[in-house]
Amino acid sequence: MIVLLNGKFVPEEQAVVSVFDRGFLYGDGLFETVRISNGRLFRWPQHLARLQRGADFLKFRLPHPGDQLANWAQELARANGLSDCLLRLNLSRGTGPRGYSPRGADNPTLVMTTHPLGEAHPQTPPIWSVVTSSVRLPAEDPLAHFKTSNKLAQILARSEADALGADEALLINTDGHVVEGSSSNLFWIQERRICTPRIEAGILPGVTREVIFELATNLGCEIVEAEITPQQLTEAEGIFLSVTSAGIIECDRSDGVALRRSPLSHALQTAYQELLAAETHR
Ligand SMILES: Cc1ncc(COP(=O)(O)O)c(C=O)c1O
Repeated sequence: MIVLLNGKFVPEEQAVVSVFDRGFLYGDGLFETVRISNGRLFRWPQHLARLQRGADFLKFRLPHPGDQLANWAQELARANGLSDCLLRLNLSRGTGPRGYSPRGADNPTLVMTTHPLGEAHPQTPPIWSVVTSSVRLPAEDPLAHFKTSNKLAQILARSEADALGADEALLINTDGHVVEGSSSNLFWIQERRICTPRIEAGILPGVTREVIFELATNLGCEIVEAEITPQQLTEAEGIFLSVTSAGIIECDRSDGVALRRSPLSHALQTAYQELLAAETHR
């Protein structure tokens, strides 16, 4: 595999980052996972905007303009012979003197890699079983709004799902509401309304979540930002998750209990695939 490291295309064996890199030492960095379809980036402006907001919040600069990053990403996918794949963009604050202070760490490290799609294939819309994680997310956590390289809560939650043979873990926040998956946003359906937690509940503003807002409106469905308890969630007319890597994913079981399934989930999946194709094939 070819990797982009600080503006250079290199074989993966040569894509080496310093042991003093703050991304490695402290998770002092940000990342984005972007869908590439037909060799083009899907919803790049939205991913870039989230990356920029994260960099502003952490007070470090994006080392290259967005257009340059997008061109490199597309070139990298071509170099790896992947026209439908996932791009992982990793940006850390780079190296600096010992200690937490970011002073003197002025050269961010940029890495891009491409990855085959796996289960995101349009002909086989995924269906996941989920479990409720014992890990609690702090409600109102401002850091949750950025895709930072600190994901320990999500890693613990996901390992709980792995241990139980489930596809994804749902996390509850410190207010007792189910708020998102370990790497996905949560939606449930109630009387033709598409419901999802507020960003302020302590979740990531997913790019796919935003796309679902557009699609739901086109389908004539109301979008409602709301709160839900674990018990209420099991009574919903349908539950689905959203994430760049797999799109819209219907859930059929939660903690071993069969969930109701709504035709709206499938309608949204179809609309999502159509939009992805329309925006990347013109
Ligand atoms: C915690 C969390 N929530 C939601 C998402 C979905 O975000 P997106 O739709 O931008 O992929 C992710 C993606 O990895 C995530 O890590």
